[in-house]
Amino acid sequence: MKIIMLGAPGAGKGTQAKKIAEKYSIPHISTGDIFRANIKNGTELGKKAKEYMDKGELVPDELTCDLVMDRISEDDAKNGFVLDGFPRTIPQAEALDAALEKISQSMDVAIDVEVDDDSIVKRMSGRRACLKCGATYHIVSIPPKKEGICDNCGEALVLRDDDQPETVLNRLRVYHNQTQPLIDYYSRKGILCSVDGMESMETVFNSIIAQLEG
Ligand code: AP5
Ligand code: MG
Repeated sequence: MKIIMLGAPGAGKGTQAKKIAEKYSIPHISTGDIFRANIKNGTELGKKAKEYMDKGELVPDELTCDLVMDRISEDDAKNGFVLDGFPRTIPQAEALDAALEKISQSMDVAIDVEVDDDSIVKRMSGRRACLKCGATYHIVSIPPKKEGICDNCGEALVLRDDDQPETVLNRLRVYHNQTQPLIDYYSRKGILCSVDGMESMETVFNSIIAQLEG
């Protein structure tokens, strides 16, 4: 199954993508996680991406598309994958479709996780992230077992640089201008499904699975 997660920053794409990937034993591919890993390791890509991410802007398509195309052609992705945070612009969606068309394939479903802007701002300020394994927590709704420490790998949790309040507002603006048009794009292709992301994490997951298997 080839799945795209759509939704505003902080809608819960990563949270749900990890659970979907686990359930179907397919890789979870998050462009944001890939960029953050590059920043942490001080690579050239990381240095370039950081300039945009810290301002809440999108990393240019030319730094993003090839990276995803290479990743989805790896062996572990041959039975499907969950894309989280990609595509984020119409040109990225077109590049993805063109790459899949060359191998006579296409995306199966785009899941839009719907959350209003006010709730997004609240969620982001409470989010804590593990930059080592990509796990995310929330200090109130999804706390780690031990404060400030990742349950999975023991790494110290951090507030992401781009989760500062002014940056979150810019990310939301960028989302509405550049990414939201993808909802129509996938609706026209007949593969859009929407879920209410304001429900609990478990309820959101169950409604995604119900739509995937229904
Ligand atoms: P990216 O890492 O993709 O960030 P984003 O889209 O802004 O989304 P987030 O990761 O912030 O949120 P999420 O939807 O995954 O929510 P989460 O599950 O963590 O991208 C970062 C940056 O990289 C971009 O701004 C851009 O610069 C660059 N970039 C990445 N991809 C790119 C691309 N394709 N092209 C160009 N640039 C790109 O949940 C959020 C919080 O809410 C957590 O604390 C979580 O625990 C909590 N939560 C989740 N679900 C629930 C629930 N149901 N109830 C209550 N709390 C919940
Ligand atoms: Mg995420």
